[in-house]
Amino acid sequence: MPGQIPEETIEQIRKSNDIVDIVGEYIQLKKQGRNYFGLCPFHGEKTPSFSVAQDKQIFHCFGCGKGGNVVTFIMEIEGYSFYQAITYLAEKSGQELPEQIQQKNEHHSSEHQDVLKAYEWLTKLYHHLLRHTKEGKEGYHYLLDRGFTDEIIDAFQLGFSPKSKDFVVQFLENKGFHRQTMVKAGVLTANEENDVTDRFRGRVMFPIRNHTGKCVGFGGRTITDQQPKYLNSPETELFQKGKLLYNFDLARPQIRAKSEAVLFEGYMDVISAYQAGVTNGLATLGTSITESQAKLIKRYVDTIIICYDSDQAGIQASHKAAKLLKKVGCTVKVANMQHGMDPDDYIREYGADRFKKEVIDLSDPYMTFLMKYIRKDFNLNLEGDRIQYVENVLDELAQIDKPVEREHYLKELANDFDLSWQTLAQEISTRRQKVGVQQDKPKQTSHTNIITKPVKTKKLLPAYHNAERQLIAYMLTDVTIADKVKEELGGAFNVDEHKVIVTYLYAFYEEGHESNISQFIEFLPDHATKELVVQIGMIPIHDDITSQEINDYIRTIYLEQSDKVKINQLKAKQKEAERQNDPVKAAQIGMEILEIQRQLKNSNH
Ligand code: GTP
Ligand code: MN
Repeated sequence: MPGQIPEETIEQIRKSNDIVDIVGEYIQLKKQGRNYFGLCPFHGEKTPSFSVAQDKQIFHCFGCGKGGNVVTFIMEIEGYSFYQAITYLAEKSGQELPEQIQQKNEHHSSEHQDVLKAYEWLTKLYHHLLRHTKEGKEGYHYLLDRGFTDEIIDAFQLGFSPKSKDFVVQFLENKGFHRQTMVKAGVLTANEENDVTDRFRGRVMFPIRNHTGKCVGFGGRTITDQQPKYLNSPETELFQKGKLLYNFDLARPQIRAKSEAVLFEGYMDVISAYQAGVTNGLATLGTSITESQAKLIKRYVDTIIICYDSDQAGIQASHKAAKLLKKVGCTVKVANMQHGMDPDDYIREYGADRFKKEVIDLSDPYMTFLMKYIRKDFNLNLEGDRIQYVENVLDELAQIDKPVEREHYLKELANDFDLSWQTLAQEISTRRQKVGVQQDKPKQTSHTNIITKPVKTKKLLPAYHNAERQLIAYMLTDVTIADKVKEELGGAFNVDEHKVIVTYLYAFYEEGHESNISQFIEFLPDHATKELVVQIGMIPIHDDITSQEINDYIRTIYLEQSDKVKINQLKAKQKEAERQNDPVKAAQIGMEILEIQRQLKNSNH
């Protein structure tokens, strides 16, 4: 509920954040007719039942029933409170929130806010030192030597931490931050004697931003040969390496535009590639990719190009990452990196153009990479190795679901080894049968594991129920229809939830609001009612509805109402007759009730 934030402010913020853009930052949406569809981010599903109506500025999942407006969406997906969601959206669209609201928000989890503020200050401090002071000169020259331009240094806010024990300690103290909070959050370090010191000293600093663009930690690279080469912020609630992806916020729109993401191993690679024009690059934070990171990527894009170092360890890591990304459903490619190099080396050696054309654009499809990968372990001049190799590749091919794709590689294999295509196809089908039997079981359990509210089986609703839904759908989009219904029917809807909705809707219009579903749901008292309104709001309506049709709906609802009233009256009379010991009369009334109920039943079918 709006609480203290003025309604106009909320409305302004909602208007400046189109729901299709905002939702589109989290899932892939495809336009189909009037609405957009995608895979629901709130429950596991394979076919899209999540829809967004741009004209009404609402979303609704037909699978799990979740629905709402852009604010609700941000609350649900980020786990934000109403205030946090409003603040986030306001910031996104460059709007100022009234002061009392900012305070209210800061009050909310003030420690988190402090840490974010501290990181924001430190990002600026380190960057300033690097760019403009003699303390940061070494770091600046280090980056220039590595080929980075001022623009890219600024874009990534790269910085330098001075070689001092307590430069940052003093800085944060002057800004009024609590030492212990900073230590707890990993911004500062404390030794056994409880001396609080700077964590990073004499390092080039890479601010690590979360997906909303806020710095939540740092990576610091030595510019001498100090160990470790990279020092990261410690793991905290805000800074979880297994969940964050480096550069995700900047890359997200690029990933969307290119329908492709490039996954690197290091910060340097991401930045170097970005400078070279490959702007859709991400990296893990020095750890191998986790399932949660893979799923996060999958939510935004189908195709991912793995561009790791091409030394032994890098290839091994590519294989591991490819398997995981494949498992969560991505189309995986592996960049065509020259042996022994990392992307940053390659760009410096051969330039941006060749990097794009020969490394990224010539990426291997997953299977080609895999065949090369398996081949490394065999000497294909030896008969025994050759057979073993073919066997291993067949194992992998058997796991490909698309027949066309399977056949493609099967032909390649048959050609390369001068084997009969039919024999290989037979081998595959045997393997698939075997695997198929084993694979079906986990598949079934994973289906039951999906956390969804059981999809309500679509019961056929009685005619009056449908009429009420249809009518409300029109009332939600047209004040004049709502006025007419109010006049003729008032609150006399038969379904209790509908009664609640129209009562609120009449009040909403009475206060002078235009029809606006997205705004209206802010006025509703509870979650269930909001979701029902959104569900009804998604019912397709005709722009040229006739008043005859509206009248029909009203009549259907009214008839149901008056029959009910009649039955209730008869039941009361029947009771009275029983009380007066007049069984004949009671039976007669009973017959009448049955007759009305029978008619009612017939008219509903
Ligand atoms: P440069 O050597 O500066 O070009 O960086 P790089 O990205 O080529 O380094 P490397 O391939 O060795 O490492 C890739 C990623 O692993 C880095 O971006 C870091 O995130 C991480 N990493 C590398 N060395 C260390 C280390 O010593 N400690 C930690 N915690 N992480 C490291
Ligand atoms: Mn490197």
